[in-house]
Amino acid sequence: MKLRYKITNGILVVVAVAIVSLGLVLSHNSACDPAPAVARDAETMEAIAYRCYGSPEVLEFGDVEKPTPQDNEVLVRVHAASVNPLDWHYMRGAPYLMRLSSGIGTPADTRMGVDFAGTVESVGSKVTRFKPGDEVFGGRTGAFAEYVIVPEDRALVLKPADVTFEQAASSPIAGITALQALRDQGKLQAGQKVLINGASGGVGTFAVQIAKSFGADVTGVCSTRNVDMVRSIGADHVIDYKKENYTEAGQRYDLIIDMVGNHSLMANRKALEPDGTLVLVGGEKGDWIAPLKGPIKALLLSPFVDQELVIILAQLNQDDLAILADLMQAGTVTPVIDQRFRLDEVADAIRYSEAGRARGKIIINIR
Ligand SMILES: NC(=O)c1ccc[n+]([C@@H]2O[C@H](COP(=O)([O-])OP(=O)(O)OC[C@H]3O[C@@H](n4cnc5c(N)ncnc54)[C@H](OP(=O)(O)O)[C@@H]3O)[C@@H](O)[C@H]2O)c1
Repeated sequence: MKLRYKITNGILVVVAVAIVSLGLVLSHNSACDPAPAVARDAETMEAIAYRCYGSPEVLEFGDVEKPTPQDNEVLVRVHAASVNPLDWHYMRGAPYLMRLSSGIGTPADTRMGVDFAGTVESVGSKVTRFKPGDEVFGGRTGAFAEYVIVPEDRALVLKPADVTFEQAASSPIAGITALQALRDQGKLQAGQKVLINGASGGVGTFAVQIAKSFGADVTGVCSTRNVDMVRSIGADHVIDYKKENYTEAGQRYDLIIDMVGNHSLMANRKALEPDGTLVLVGGEKGDWIAPLKGPIKALLLSPFVDQELVIILAQLNQDDLAILADLMQAGTVTPVIDQRFRLDEVADAIRYSEAGRARGKIIINIR
């Protein structure tokens, strides 16, 4: 064999071994660490923690040390939290590539939950925007607990008086994802036709209402049991996916927001105007590359076609939370709440979310 072939083969073997090793390391679930002892004189709170990746059985309900705010931080007493698919992605550490940031073998951060609403308990010495007693909502790791700590300049805003804690807690991730998909990625204009695939879920129920507030003509795609609900939140047209495939109906849309990923890019393009936009929010489930297939294909194809094929990674921020607060206070957006669970029932709430049949948002009532 010529030397250059030997070198090429050698490099290929090294690359293959490196990929397989990385795969084995990333997918390995280490055993659960025991819960650390809480100091005798420490103040405690009830919270959900997870010390290893896996099914909802890894979630522990119990006492942990109550956090103390640093100079720039706000301590919020949580009244309600809500569940997102993001929570069980962290719980399972899947897709495995996310473990590069969430922790290899075991989770780097044992706290769970993001969306919350509650009352400010105390603030650090440099905090100026919030004071004890303020009713607030936002997003921060550790929301499935009696208290959560948030830096004052992060995703935390005042809760409007007419919005309940449950409604406010249901909005951060789902509402911001819907808003940013429609406004930033979709560039939705009044009068345009938008189709929301997955209109009955957490993100979808916000997307239908926010799209209506933009003055769009909204089509929601859901199953038979959710047709009335999706119409009741403002959809002008509803397609029952059990009876009709929207990609084959001959209708074209300026914008498709896809929370489900059950149709190919080519099929979605057939339902888009020639200059329309497809925003991929959710996709195929899977531990390895299945969830990345749609986004990768969209990124590769997009430069060669007139239609925009884009993906979104929603970013929690104060400005967009404030927009959601205004929309809820005005009654333009009313969060749809499905089931309610207690803090000690978070594992059941996550099981329900993982089943993929939620109608709107799943709430955790802390008190
Ligand atoms: N990219 C981002 O930044 C971002 C942010 C948030 C969420 N996400 C992702 O977006 C997706 C949706 O999130 P979510 O919170 O809305 O989830 P969710 O609340 O769990 O969605 C459940 C809903 O999906 C509906 N559904 C299931 N199969 C469907 C189908 N074939 N056609 C239409 N609807 C269908 C279900 O209705 P039926 O029971 O009637 O089928 C149910 O109402 C998830 O994959 C999530 O990970 C991404």
